[in-house]
Amino acid sequence: MNGGTLMEPKIVQESEQTGPILEVENMTVFRSGKPILRDIDLKVFKGEFVGIVGPNGSGKSTLLLSILGLLKIQKGTVRIFNRPPASIYLFGKIGWVSQAASNLPRDIKITVQELVQLGTINTRNMLRFISKERRECVERAIQMVDLQDVRTSEVGRLSGGQRQRAVIARALASDAELIILDEPLVGIDRESRNSLLKLLDNLCHEQGKTILMVSHDLAAIRQTSHRMVFLEETIRYDGDTANFPDLSELADLRGIHQVHEHKHSHSKKPRQVEE
Ligand SMILES: Nc1ncnc2c1ncn2[C@@H]1O[C@H](COP(=O)(O)OP(=O)(O)O)[C@@H](O)[C@H]1O
Ligand SMILES: [Mg+2]
Repeated sequence: MNGGTLMEPKIVQESEQTGPILEVENMTVFRSGKPILRDIDLKVFKGEFVGIVGPNGSGKSTLLLSILGLLKIQKGTVRIFNRPPASIYLFGKIGWVSQAASNLPRDIKITVQELVQLGTINTRNMLRFISKERRECVERAIQMVDLQDVRTSEVGRLSGGQRQRAVIARALASDAELIILDEPLVGIDRESRNSLLKLLDNLCHEQGKTILMVSHDLAAIRQTSHRMVFLEETIRYDGDTANFPDLSELADLRGIHQVHEHKHSHSKKPRQVEE
């Protein structure tokens, strides 16, 4: 793997004794008989904010779905909190914001509050009436994403950015330690994007949440994540965000060659990617 040095915040070193929150080893995934991911090795520790980037169709969503146990893997292992992904133990421990999250059907007849409430269901309380404690969780999550004013509105009536935040609030209400987001920045305006990134940053730094976020908004992800993974069928870079390869290095990693040979002769020679 081409790797920069892995940045490990203090909190990570402590939890290293108990092992990674997420551990993917030697994973290969086929979809409709086609290999999509191969030889994936990924370890994520508590409190890390990992950004996953890669071109369209490079397997980013497939990686998340495999981690969540929603896709069958052909080879390798996935462990979350040292359990297999389908374990009932993990119910409520992972907050997942899917790529289609903000595309909830327009005619969906539930309010923001009800949607967020769904996030508080876990194996212990699923058959009970909603408690005061759960109601407080819901309220806190709604406040975190700044949707107090629309808490009783139907989700279908919200703007794209508001809906994305509502879905994120659902993940937050679960009190999940690991939050997995697939393209949460798509379809939201710049202002919401910045507040969303700030929210994720706070969750990570102030509440010790572990965040795994897929995005093709390279600039946004660079601003917030500590560590970046560049995926294209397999992991081609995994390391410190500060050492993330520049565009020409990425082209090298992807085996893309310069088309306009002489046009950029004044440009700097690309920095070598550290091994
Ligand atoms: N249900 C599916 N069946 C077969 N191939 C799929 C399916 N979904 C996605 N793919 C293929 O898997 C590859 C990776 O897709 P995906 O993980 O969605 O990429 P990304 O999220 O990086 O854009 C693409 O080539 C895509 O066409
Ligand atoms: Mg995707």
